Amino acid sequence: MIPRKTDWQELENFLATFSLLTKNFFHDLDERAVAITHAKLPDLPMSTNGLDFQSALEVLCDHVIPQLSASRGPRYWGFVTGGATPVATFADWLVSTFDQNLSSSGDSVATQVEKQTIRWLCQLFDLPESFSGIVTTGATASNFLGALCSRQFAGQKQGIDVAKEGVAGLSVEIFSTTPHASMLKTLGMAGLGQNCVTKVKSLPNSEQMDVIDLDNKLSESTVKAKVIIASAGTVTGTDFDDLESISELGEQYQCWLHVDAAFGIFERLIGGEKTRGLERANSITLDCHKWLNVPYDCGVFLTRNLDMLFNSLNVPAPYLQTNQTDPDFLSLGVENSRRFRALPVWLSLLTYGKKGIADWVNRNVKLAKFFAKEINKSQDYELLHDCQLNVVLFRPNCEGLSDIEATQKTKKFLKAINLDGRVFLSPGLWQGKQCIRAALSNWETQTSDVDIVMQCLTDVANNF
Ligand SMILES: Cc1ncc(COP(=O)(O)O)c(C=O)c1O
Repeated sequence: MIPRKTDWQELENFLATFSLLTKNFFHDLDERAVAITHAKLPDLPMSTNGLDFQSALEVLCDHVIPQLSASRGPRYWGFVTGGATPVATFADWLVSTFDQNLSSSGDSVATQVEKQTIRWLCQLFDLPESFSGIVTTGATASNFLGALCSRQFAGQKQGIDVAKEGVAGLSVEIFSTTPHASMLKTLGMAGLGQNCVTKVKSLPNSEQMDVIDLDNKLSESTVKAKVIIASAGTVTGTDFDDLESISELGEQYQCWLHVDAAFGIFERLIGGEKTRGLERANSITLDCHKWLNVPYDCGVFLTRNLDMLFNSLNVPAPYLQTNQTDPDFLSLGVENSRRFRALPVWLSLLTYGKKGIADWVNRNVKLAKFFAKEINKSQDYELLHDCQLNVVLFRPNCEGLSDIEATQKTKKFLKAINLDGRVFLSPGLWQGKQCIRAALSNWETQTSDVDIVMQCLTDVANNF
């Protein structure tokens, strides 16, 4: 029976309808296209009196659900995308049931769950206890907090409280090699400007920072405050900056060091060679809706200097009692009212543990390397970069083609692959070459998925 919309007496019926829709979605997931590139929602009128719930459900079932993709499935390899495990999905359903506001402590245990989540994440990634932080909506939001802390730090070095007085007159230089686009976006949002970055050279055939060039540039700089933005896992090449050497320079030149480790931090679960030195950063971005496989949207910002975050975001208001020694989340993040976003992370950490999470990270890395080998063997495709972790960069065989022709062919192939529906991949630019990126970060991906994708690529090449 379809529930009426106004009455919690109808809870059983709501749950039955929810259960039916959910079961159907999971049941058809394998047949659902991994991406729907031509989805179109009709121009529905705004409802004046409101529909009865059954009619609204019909609209949802007719126009929305059939056009949703299987992006939570094992072959959505675009961007860097997780897939939400059963436990994380279950917890996320409950977040709406509980509907808590994690603005400040004192009205439920929910804020303590978020604090425990942050502590567990630090333990998971072997970071010192001096780190604390906040759950955000994703890596972009975390990078924004990194940008705010950087400018607050810069201000503090020259007697300006930027949060109160603004950035006018601020003397600051920001050094980075391959910042993620979201980092640039947030530098703009923080009033520092998207173009403010002093570009440090990269090492040959890599997106990794050239530390000697960083040293030279830091020593030449005459500004009052310096900030380094490093990458632990660049989004295209999956290259890692040498965080040990960079943090040493950071300390020598008294810089703020922010590390965007959105997905690269998970490398610490499978060896940690590439992320050595991360524990010396002033602030760190990580994403939970990537390799932790919790539902969107969920990221984390960590810092060893919580006072800098607090000073950036605290607004004293009589009705918001803030506490400087153990600040409330509303004084540490963008939002005042906040979702119980920590719960899926908390329940995932409790249920899967370090071993469970490391298992799927390990499997993704092995499968990415296997996929890279298959591409390398194929006559139809060429591998553009050795697989560093979980991302494979390739393009169709472009032998004998000019750069322009190779770019066009690669774009056409990507379009055809994504139209096919068996896999979703995204574009990239590797050392000036248009490429196709496959990023494996879904907990469910298996060898059979790599086989399906290889068959899809072969079919696309045969039909070209
Ligand atoms: C290194 C890095 N930083 C930041 C982001 C932005 O993440 P989000 O989409 O969660 O804001 C991404 C996304 O792919 C990323 O790979």
